[in-house]
Amino acid sequence: MESWYLLVLLVSGAQTMSVTIESVPDVGPHGTIQTELERTVSLVCRHSAAPDLPPSEGGEEELVWLRNGAAVSLTAGNQKGSSGVCVTPVIHQDNGATFTCHLRRNASIQASVTLNVTYPPTASGSEEVSVEVASSLVLRCDVFANPPITSPLWTLNGSTLDLSAGGFTLTNDGFVSQLSVGSVERSLHQGRYRCTADSPVYGTRTRVFQVTVTDKTTKFPLMPIIAGAVVVVLTGIFAIISRWSTITKVTRHTSPRFP
Ligand SMILES: *[C@@H]1O[C@H](CO)[C@@H](O)[C@H](O)[C@H]1NC(C)=O
Ligand SMILES: *[C@@H]1O[C@H](CO)[C@@H](O)[C@H](O)[C@H]1NC(C)=O
Ligand SMILES: *[C@@H]1O[C@H](CO)[C@@H](O)[C@H](O)[C@H]1NC(C)=O
Repeated sequence: MESWYLLVLLVSGAQTMSVTIESVPDVGPHGTIQTELERTVSLVCRHSAAPDLPPSEGGEEELVWLRNGAAVSLTAGNQKGSSGVCVTPVIHQDNGATFTCHLRRNASIQASVTLNVTYPPTASGSEEVSVEVASSLVLRCDVFANPPITSPLWTLNGSTLDLSAGGFTLTNDGFVSQLSVGSVERSLHQGRYRCTADSPVYGTRTRVFQVTVTDKTTKFPLMPIIAGAVVVVLTGIFAIISRWSTITKVTRHTSPRFP
């Protein structure tokens, strides 16, 4: 029994030094701080000496802050005993950022917090899309959000989209959900599309696409004509340049002979 007490005393004796982080808003479970874009997060790191140590031994300890492992520069007066950092305004890149505070002389005496920045998907508004028969259609819907939107719901004229029947391809890179069709047919693809992103925190965001399939117009073949004209002009320029270089070469060779 006594040896157990001794062990406990030894262990606590070895951990007389510690640092703690206080924050506004509060630190939640697992050292996570919940916040949103544009907000401010204030962090204060305090060094606490064990009560049995003289106060001077704690008060003079220098503190270091790291953001994702990189040192945060601190003013001289913001390093001893306690040290504050402020994250303002909170941006997308702060999501998942870890802030660590440790003693300068011993980095293993440290504490960390991680930011969880929530933000809604930006899908909204409506768009008129006009697409020619047999050409391709691409509809894009912003789904970048935290918590992430795993798969937004796409509907056409109010019914869930049948991807295979319509020849649709649906991709999602976490930022944009993209619906595409290689060759548009009026009977299959004209109508009102909706992309609905459901966030457990921010609710539902929707973007509407009113797609009209137009007849194929026979376009005047402008591109080949422009390309042809460019070739003619370039050939002329090259002819002039090569002649010019022949002339200059001749003059360079001849000038020393006829000074
Ligand atoms: C740093 O602190 C740890 C934990 O208190 C301790 O085990 C270690 O010996 C210390 N290292 C130095 C160099 O003081
Ligand atoms: C961040 O907060 C959201 C909303 O409370 C939650 O759903 C998500 O699991 C949190 N993420 C992490 C990594 O803690
Ligand atoms: C969707 O509704 C519009 C208007 O009622 C209609 O013209 C179009 O054919 C419909 N689209 C499909 C794919 O059924």
